[in-house]
Amino acid sequence: MTETGTLLTSLDCRACCAQVDPGRPVGVCPNCGHALLASYDLAKLDGKRWRASLPGRDATLWRYRELLPVGRAEAIVSLGEGFSPILRLVSRSEPGARRLWLKDDGGLPTGSFKARGMAVAVSRAHELGVRTLFVPSAGNAGVALSAYAARAGLTARVYLPERTPSPMKDGCRAYGAEVVELPGTLREVGAAARAREAKSGAFDLSTLREPYRVEGKKTMGLEIFEQLGAEGLPGAIVYPTGGGTGLIGMQKAFEELRSLGLLERSPRLYAVQPEGCAPVVRALEDGAAKVTPWEDPHTLAPGLLVPAPFASERILEAVRASRGGGATVSDVAIVHAMRTLAREHGVSASPEGAATYAGLDSLRARGAIRADETVLLYNTGSGLPFSIPELERSLASSVTVPDADH
Ligand SMILES: Cc1ncc(COP(=O)(O)O)c(C=O)c1O
Ligand SMILES: [Zn+2]
Repeated sequence: MTETGTLLTSLDCRACCAQVDPGRPVGVCPNCGHALLASYDLAKLDGKRWRASLPGRDATLWRYRELLPVGRAEAIVSLGEGFSPILRLVSRSEPGARRLWLKDDGGLPTGSFKARGMAVAVSRAHELGVRTLFVPSAGNAGVALSAYAARAGLTARVYLPERTPSPMKDGCRAYGAEVVELPGTLREVGAAARAREAKSGAFDLSTLREPYRVEGKKTMGLEIFEQLGAEGLPGAIVYPTGGGTGLIGMQKAFEELRSLGLLERSPRLYAVQPEGCAPVVRALEDGAAKVTPWEDPHTLAPGLLVPAPFASERILEAVRASRGGGATVSDVAIVHAMRTLAREHGVSASPEGAATYAGLDSLRARGAIRADETVLLYNTGSGLPFSIPELERSLASSVTVPDADH
């Protein structure tokens, strides 16, 4: 038994069924290059006793330490991430309306849910003796990596597209990370970063090209379960989808809770994407097993500008296993939702998080979500780095930012 009590046993490839030893740093499946996902020996845990022990633990995501990959408590690199609030949204125009929840990750360290994945991935890399890490990023993941690397005393390099907003670039530098600005879209930046780093010995933290960021994202599902209770779980969770780690992570959480005997019915997961870049929603509607890259992607929500997510088979599997679906929203509706969330509900949402509020209308209108169902919207980041008037001006002049994948 390790100090944390982690039940991690192996890293598994769902594409070729390979099993990989988790005892050393590893990226993708060495056989076939697909994403690896962590497996735990859940039979060793008494689900009910574990559930009962949770309220006495720290209010961070490390309270779920048995289901996280880190073995030594001293390797944990924490800024107090996790256990974000779930807020009730009451509409002024329909005060008696059905129950609507919003889980707000805007207050996490570095201002977004990326803290969850980076806290866990950096901790595990640190435990395994990695000294230098890199990530290609549209912004939030880079800032989060920079903060956790600083906290652990590790070296971080963040590769950003040249046109990334300055506050993101400055944020990474403020934490002491090396920022490499490259021309082109995130797709080209990611490829160039991996080529440059191929012989550097630095560890690649690109989305789903290493197995532990998704374990950090899994805590979104674990928290929703703990905070609302098995009986209080919403019928549907609406989630802003880019690289898809959140959907894969939440579905994994519900499957693990089910294996522990703590859950019978889990929420349906709905992927919301912008009309200008909706490869996951299109693949869901087409019944495809993987996405076809989106041509000419554009949206003002930077985290959703992912035209060809790396592990799309796993994303589609997760949504389908939950019996959920997808919806697209316009950029105009996203900015309108940012305003409404702020003015009517006091919630500062990122464009990505606000997209869920916009998507709910169309999901209800087409009957995917029933009017009497409880719904949880996931706000993945704070809106404070964004200026709503500037976003509106960019809409008026239809200046959208073309970009590409992870
Ligand atoms: C604020 C925000 N929301 C959502 C996403 C998309 O997340 P996921 O990879 O879980 O689909 C991102 C990714 O960059 C993001 O920064
Ligand atoms: Zn494989």
